[in-house]
Amino acid sequence: MVDLVREGALALITLNRPEALNALSFAIIREIGAAIDEAAGWDIRALIFTGAGEKAFCAGADIKELIGRNLMEERAGAELGQQVFAKLDTFKVPSIAAINGYAFGGGLELATACTFRIASPKAKMGLPEIKLGLIPGYGGTQRLPRLIGEARALDMILTGRTVSAEEALAIGLVHRLAEGDVREAAKALAAEFTGYGLPALAFARAAVQRSMDTPIAQGLRIEADLSTLAYRTEDAAEGLAAFVEKRKPLFQDR
Ligand code: HXC
Repeated sequence: MVDLVREGALALITLNRPEALNALSFAIIREIGAAIDEAAGWDIRALIFTGAGEKAFCAGADIKELIGRNLMEERAGAELGQQVFAKLDTFKVPSIAAINGYAFGGGLELATACTFRIASPKAKMGLPEIKLGLIPGYGGTQRLPRLIGEARALDMILTGRTVSAEEALAIGLVHRLAEGDVREAAKALAAEFTGYGLPALAFARAAVQRSMDTPIAQGLRIEADLSTLAYRTEDAAEGLAAFVEKRKPLFQDR
């Protein structure tokens, strides 16, 4: 149900359950977690998620599986989804959601947990849980407002409406629209940062992440700490020297 392959510096995770529009059963969420853990042991520089087939990235939690759960099972389900997607917050390299079609509910929550989102122009996105009498449970109420602001997040979550790829780009829900195949576009996006040193990428992500939950005075201290750590890396010495010597830097991730 989840395919994990390595292509050079990239790990590619494909949700592969097209007959159910790649819906997130408990089993598939666990498999995503296992795939992320396995990829963490690889020497990679980016992690790309996509959905099998042309129709869907992921249509959300498996609605048929949600029926008839008891309270404990439901709570455990929400926590499982949250824990698996939270792995991406601290994953050692940036992640990219290549949104090839529908991304609804838990599918959009997975995408919003990724560092980048790139969408096919025909992709459609939304958090339609309200239409089922539910609310998002895999991080959507927390990540979406941080990405697009409280007003727009409330608009999406309380109406459950579907957002086109164009609107998603306009409101900052996705970073880019793909021209041509979205998976290839995701690989091209990855190529824009995979040549940089991993420490600097990690420090930059950590600093920006902290801006979301930290008063600015404390956030500035964190930035000073992390920028000092970046400055002390061999990569920084190499990057500065390469500029002065008018050559391309060769970063060594140290
Ligand atoms: C289980 C699903 C599914 C889902 C689609 N399917 N979405 N099965 N869970 N989330 C199945 C359908 O039952 C159908 O199988 C097959 O996939 C094709 O779907 P269709 O509906 O026939 O396709 P289409 O008419 O093109 O409509 C596509 C769609 C629609 C607009 C994406 O499928 C849809 O609205 N899906 C539900 C989206 C949603 O509400 N997601 C949020 C879930 S709640 P069969 O075998 O019947 O033909 C959530 C968070 C919960 O994600 C939080 C809990 C903690």
